Amino acid sequence: MPTFADVLTQDFERQADAIIARYPQKRSAILPLLHLVQNACNYIPEDGMRFIAKKLGLNMNDVYETLTFYSMLFTEPIGAYHLQLCRTISCYLCGAAQLREHLEKRLGIRPGQKTPDGRFRLSEVECIGACSAAPAMQINFDFHENLTPEKVDAILDALP
Ligand code: FES
Repeated sequence: MPTFADVLTQDFERQADAIIARYPQKRSAILPLLHLVQNACNYIPEDGMRFIAKKLGLNMNDVYETLTFYSMLFTEPIGAYHLQLCRTISCYLCGAAQLREHLEKRLGIRPGQKTPDGRFRLSEVECIGACSAAPAMQINFDFHENLTPEKVDAILDALP
């Protein structure tokens, strides 16, 4: 897993500056910058927060408060695969709770936890916009729909 020092290249700085340039007020770029750091490091380390604070003229507390407000941003490594199982009404009515139980049993973790090898993190999330194909789950940036326990097993088995 790369450290923030590894990812802090001139190209990374250019990407950050291009994001900041899109906003009339620099501080409005805080969420895209948090995502930029998280996508590069798999989480947002303290030196990543410091970088954002400096770029936006904020203090560390401003950055930390924003970061910890959002459930999709992490102060510790997320893991290789972030399983985000929707629990909102359409998915709930179509079997999301059974899928959660299946995942808990298969992975040996509960929502909010990560497997000891760091491969999987399980989260329950609100609607991910795939209600017509419920139940649905997002794994990193990929959507999986019309899920059953068997389909979930096949998807996890096929992950590299
Ligand atoms: Fe699950 Fe919308 S309710 S995707």
